[in-house]
Amino acid sequence: MSGTPVLEIDAITVGYGGVPAIRDLSLSVGAGEILAVLGPNGAGKTTTLLAAVGALPLMSGTVTALGAPVDGAVERNARRGVTLVPDTRGVFHTLSVADNLRLAKRKGGGDLDLVYEYFPKLRSMRTRRCGNLSGGEQQMLALAKALLAKPRVLLIDELSLGLAPIAVQELLPRLRSIADDQNMAVVLVEQHIDLALGIADAAIVLHHGRVALAASASDLRNRRDSVEAAYFGRSDQSDVAS
Ligand SMILES: Nc1ncnc2c1ncn2[C@@H]1O[C@H](COP(=O)(O)OP(=O)(O)O)[C@@H](O)[C@H]1O
Ligand SMILES: [Mg+2]
Repeated sequence: MSGTPVLEIDAITVGYGGVPAIRDLSLSVGAGEILAVLGPNGAGKTTTLLAAVGALPLMSGTVTALGAPVDGAVERNARRGVTLVPDTRGVFHTLSVADNLRLAKRKGGGDLDLVYEYFPKLRSMRTRRCGNLSGGEQQMLALAKALLAKPRVLLIDELSLGLAPIAVQELLPRLRSIADDQNMAVVLVEQHIDLALGIADAAIVLHHGRVALAASASDLRNRRDSVEAAYFGRSDQSDVAS
């Protein structure tokens, strides 16, 4: 990992009602880097993202983004450039594509023309009601809305939930070029392991709320068996995260 991390999570334990869901979890992401967060259902991926944006209190550990601690003030963290795309997508179904984007622009102040440049398809669909878009189109819109918040750190929770791999194949490379273009750090929670490893710089695999495996994406592309092992909690992988 190169440069100073723009997001650094150090040994956090976070849970619900006093019961930890993730324990002693650490990760870091630098500017322009994509970190894939993999792991089975219930592993703690969403909890990690919520903690990273200040939406859940930490039982222990620290979260630092852009040189300052991330605390409970989600809106303020968002204004500083720490933006979450939740797995619920956050698009308004009764509004048009253009109105969704206008609202996001008003709130976040980002460059609408640039976002239309990244996603030309959205321009051609701008009068359509979001409720009538395909799943892939809605994901594209959710990503576009998040970019209008001018994120420095973008955290994406299963953008491709319920999507056909073909839609993911279209979206993820686009995310890669936007991260490069904007020098934006990305934490990508993704179920499509190979597609995620295909665009990420590094990856971690969570299992039962802990980091079971952490390595560069290129390393993991060549060691898919280690990824599987960590995914299913088998302990035969060689490098467990420190
Ligand atoms: N709101 C909640 N209240 C209580 N337990 C929760 C809540 N959300 C998640 N959990 C529990 O925390 C653990 C991690 O969940 P989550 O972070 O959503 O996993 P993932 O996103 O990897 O599927 C799971 O055991 C889940 O049941
Ligand atoms: Mg989740």
